[in-house]
Amino acid sequence: MKRTKIKRIGVLTSGGDCPGLNAVIRGVVRAAHEQGWETYGFSDGYEGLISPVRYRRLDPNGVDSIMPMGGTILGTVNRGRFAAKVGAGKKAEIPQAILCEARETFEGLGLGALVCIGGDGSLSTALQLQKAGVPVVGVPKTIDNDLSATNMTFGFDSAVEVVVDALDRLHTTARSHKRIMVVEVMGRHAGWIALHGGLGGGADVILIPEIPYRRDALIHLLKQRKSDGFGSTMIVVAEGAKERGKKLVTKEAKLRGQGEVRLGGIGEQLAEDLEATTGQEARFVTLGHLQRGGTPSALDRILATRFGVGAVRLIAAGHFGHMVTYLNDHVGGVSIAKAVRTLRTVPPGGETVASARSVGISFGD
Ligand code: F6P
Repeated sequence: MKRTKIKRIGVLTSGGDCPGLNAVIRGVVRAAHEQGWETYGFSDGYEGLISPVRYRRLDPNGVDSIMPMGGTILGTVNRGRFAAKVGAGKKAEIPQAILCEARETFEGLGLGALVCIGGDGSLSTALQLQKAGVPVVGVPKTIDNDLSATNMTFGFDSAVEVVVDALDRLHTTARSHKRIMVVEVMGRHAGWIALHGGLGGGADVILIPEIPYRRDALIHLLKQRKSDGFGSTMIVVAEGAKERGKKLVTKEAKLRGQGEVRLGGIGEQLAEDLEATTGQEARFVTLGHLQRGGTPSALDRILATRFGVGAVRLIAAGHFGHMVTYLNDHVGGVSIAKAVRTLRTVPPGGETVASARSVGISFGD
């Protein structure tokens, strides 16, 4: 690693939490220490950079035991004065006064770089800070696994494990009662969690945003399964899935001025509709934030540590405005501007969907 004149760097976590954030922080602090740099951690995402400014020094011993911990020791915010994303592809400009105040805090503390760990909204904020004069590097974070520039983000594997564990438990009760079980999982614009969780947990139906489902196809399938002797049916539905020609099911009719609209409710709606139409008892479970909490899987700990070290490497090389990526088992970097541009959604004609279909899983299309 090339040494620079940096003495101190900052780190923050922004947006929704997910398993592995603390492992990234630990990776950053330890790799920075190797470079001879101190690390300051800001509280509550970008909010810690502005009044009332909140930060603390993170030393390598202090972060020793945080790797297995879920959440983030720094706290996070996904709606606030820095909310830079208001919907898929729609970005908001952060007021210059806020960006300037953040830069003044950064300069006043003698920081040489800021590591921003967050999803595409938080990375868009990082870019705006970079334009305002704060040298940033990004670490992509989303359990939805929907950033195109990286093959995988940490937190995804842990979330899929939660879904698979839930399906193992729900199969036994669904079979005992001969019920339809609808399991709603996270995934706003991309159905990766539903697809992988459904495949790993032996779902019969997987509904994802990329393949709008047909209600009549679902009903036909349920009737067919009944006459074929299948007592129960396990349906995994992503929160962002929708019926062909219908709108997304949301918790709020419209935005409350900040951040993205809250999704949720499709599982309940579907279970009620299917029970009323087929006469077979149906139940629903929304896994919600269970998928975001708890200890990270081994794979996520490893990826998160590599991402933390990768962020320090980007700083040492002077690659500001870049974020770490994981491609072909290599942690490298790409410009944030390029990375936040496109979502990585499930290809409906891809091999994973085809394999799912080959083992009899329906996508309701
Ligand atoms: O983008 C990640 C995600 O977990 C989505 O799947 C979900 O819709 C959203 O965050 C929920 O965020 P929160 O409840 O923290 O607002």
